[in-house]
Amino acid sequence: MDLASAVNEINQLRHEREALILAHNYQNDAIQDLADQVGDSLALSQAAAASKAKVIVFCGVHFMAESASILAPEKTILFPAENAGCPMADMADAEEVLKWRERYPKAAVVAYVNTSAAVKAVSDYCCTSANAIKLIKNIPESEIIFLPDQNLGHFVAKQVPEKKIHLWPGYCVTHHQVEPKDVNLVKELHPDALVLVHPECRPEVTALADFVGSTSQIIKYVKTSSNQKFIIGTEMGIIHGLQKENPTKTFYLLNKGLVCPNMKQTTIPKVLKSLQTMQPVVSVPPEIRDKAARALNRMLEYV
Ligand code: 13P
Ligand code: SF4
Repeated sequence: MDLASAVNEINQLRHEREALILAHNYQNDAIQDLADQVGDSLALSQAAAASKAKVIVFCGVHFMAESASILAPEKTILFPAENAGCPMADMADAEEVLKWRERYPKAAVVAYVNTSAAVKAVSDYCCTSANAIKLIKNIPESEIIFLPDQNLGHFVAKQVPEKKIHLWPGYCVTHHQVEPKDVNLVKELHPDALVLVHPECRPEVTALADFVGSTSQIIKYVKTSSNQKFIIGTEMGIIHGLQKENPTKTFYLLNKGLVCPNMKQTTIPKVLKSLQTMQPVVSVPPEIRDKAARALNRMLEYV
């Protein structure tokens, strides 16, 4: 079947199944064009929770589909790319979190949303890169275990120096490989471009950027900036939406390794198959779900 016929069939089925298609900013261009909503982890969690649709087709990675299932347990969460995980989320497991809790008994555990449901269930709060600073600044606890991303944790710690933050040693393989020399090189090539990077990049990289923010914050920054050229220091998929929304502006990828292979696993044929078969479904066992929901709902209070 060619791509256009597959898209036609998806359009028929999404209507029949009363399905909402959600896609992360890092998805393939064709998936972003197909989606009802494209956004960052926070916006997609909110959309899943607020939607009246019976079925959510989640185009992203596994922890995102799990979050949708936790926040909207009455909905069927289809996850077309069933093997798309997040290596950073795999760097934290619930047993180890419990050991850290013993080591720092006064600390609240703040888990980045890039974690499994089991880790969320043993955490006090979740956050995304869009609200991590606001949440950590405003929660009552003054000592925090932040997991799993050491780079985002470091970035937050710099903005909230009044809190004592213990950093978990995880990182995103895609963002962590960017080095300061990449920034210096691309700045030399495009001296009139602004450098915008995700806080999952190393501290030495964020220190050289003109702006550091989550995917949605980068999108907002570009829209409101009078500058015409931007160097993008996050996963390449974001450039599709940036270019669509800002046709007169120019974008350069900071480093050609900024590709998340897991985010690229969702394809049109997989979305079609999932709507045809109503598989694979992501769900979270109730005993984990209820505890994880507490941390996730607290995340939504700090938007
Ligand atoms: P955002 O929360 O900015 O969408 O990022 C999610 C993610 O996986 C970044 O690598
Ligand atoms: Fe995980 Fe990094 Fe991919 Fe985001 S870009 S999903 S943090 S591996």
